[in-house]
Amino acid sequence: MTTDQARRERWQRYWDKHSASYDKQMRFFDRVLFGDSRAWVCSQAAGDTLEVGIGTGLNLPLYPAAATLTGIDISPAMLKIAADRARQLGREVGLREADAGALPFGDASFDTVVCTFSLCAIPGHQRAVSEMHRVLRPGGLLLLADHIAGSARSVRAIQRLPETVTVPTGGEHFLRRPLDQVRAEGFAIERRERFKLGIVERIAARKPALS
Ligand SMILES: C[S@@+](CC[C@H](N)C(=O)[O-])C[C@H]1O[C@@H](n2cnc3c(N)ncnc32)[C@H](O)[C@@H]1O
Repeated sequence: MTTDQARRERWQRYWDKHSASYDKQMRFFDRVLFGDSRAWVCSQAAGDTLEVGIGTGLNLPLYPAAATLTGIDISPAMLKIAADRARQLGREVGLREADAGALPFGDASFDTVVCTFSLCAIPGHQRAVSEMHRVLRPGGLLLLADHIAGSARSVRAIQRLPETVTVPTGGEHFLRRPLDQVRAEGFAIERRERFKLGIVERIAARKPALS
């Protein structure tokens, strides 16, 4: 087994194990930290939409009815909850087990790519953003929301403490800045909001259209 496979299986087991308690835990953070970020992201999705690291599908009720939804995640147990939620909502969504670092879709397959609160947990998040860029059609929209490194050095110093535990035990990073990778891929930033001492960020970024 390669190191990549072993790493993937480790985090797959981790998320499978935490799938049953995820919604309760996440609802708390949605309430106290992330505010209306899910609605902010999902309301902008249109056309063929891919959600990367879809988890238990907490965003599913928030997408416009006209969007065609596909979701991927490494955790079969998280995907099972997402499938149950989709069924209860009467919402059609194509769900697949896949790695964000190697998306099983051709180039330029989607009009919108969404990723909420997963880039903090995906190993090799730079590669994941490159893959999101690859599968987006020219002119397509990338929509992200996540917790990131805070604006002030003092805030980042505080964030560094829990990371020493959460990175090795849960793969959870507090000091990432996905915007750097989004810019490096050549996306044009259309909207960007930061709040809660700069530790929550949401981004709408456009892949340039072909000229
Ligand atoms: C914090 S949860 C976020 C779930 C969901 N996006 C949300 O907003 O509630 C992180 C998710 O990322 C998934 N994940 C972690 N590493 C991944 C990878 N390499 N590829 C795809 N999904 C991954 C986990 O299985 C988990 O479902």
